[in-house]
Amino acid sequence: MSNSIEKVHHPLFARFYTLLSRNESAEAKAHRRELLAGLSGRVLELGAGNGANFVHYPESVCEVVAVEPEAYLREQARTEAAKAPIRVTVVDGTDARLPAGDGSFDAAVACLVLCSVPDQAKALAELRRVVRSGGELRFYEHVLSRRSGIALSQRVVDRTFWPRAFGGCHTARHPRRHRGRRLCHRRAAPRVGGSAAVRGARRHPRPRSGTPPLGTLRRRVSRIPLSGQSISP
Ligand SMILES: C[S@@+](CC[C@H](N)C(=O)[O-])C[C@H]1O[C@@H](n2cnc3c(N)ncnc32)[C@H](O)[C@@H]1O
Repeated sequence: MSNSIEKVHHPLFARFYTLLSRNESAEAKAHRRELLAGLSGRVLELGAGNGANFVHYPESVCEVVAVEPEAYLREQARTEAAKAPIRVTVVDGTDARLPAGDGSFDAAVACLVLCSVPDQAKALAELRRVVRSGGELRFYEHVLSRRSGIALSQRVVDRTFWPRAFGGCHTARHPRRHRGRRLCHRRAAPRVGGSAAVRGARRHPRPRSGTPPLGTLRRRVSRIPLSGQSISP
């Protein structure tokens, strides 16, 4: 992971985002709490930013490994980790290769990060790799609007200034639609700022009998429908 700082280096965005998240609304904090409610055991959080989720992990979580590739955000996250009610270890890394063994976590969390990774399918595959069978992925992501006017403006900003100004963020993505994989359904509307959003959980199924080879398990995972809650406009 030694070259990840070169790949994800957004010093201005990192400072701006830290300021923003320190002044987050009560509603945004409630969404974070709900995203993490009921988790237990070891959790890997992808792209933890400045650690805004850390205080919201329930005490049933024994350890969080928070992966953050941006140097300034990682430093802020380490400060937040020291205040968290549970053990949080902040490490350098990216979605391309998570610093974790296969099936070594009970759950993974992707919160406002799939908009920024270079390849969502690869990021999702990596998250699946590190979660044990029977474990789950929790996600909370802003997505493409269903309103055509807003969707058009999202596509326009994504092709012009937005990703450069906001740390690689793309407003018009939708993990639900990515390469035909079904991550979530549209149901309700916890918005992220002014943007449509999805929040939910997807469980990594237990093998039916015995442990199938990893390839078999991965193919099976990619076909399962969403389990748990999923919310969006
Ligand atoms: C909008 S911030 C969200 C931060 C945090 N998850 C939160 O909920 O506040 C996006 C985060 O994704 C991180 N990120 C960007 N590209 C990444 C990648 N390829 N792998 C992992 N994290 C990445 C950024 O450094 C940043 O911390």
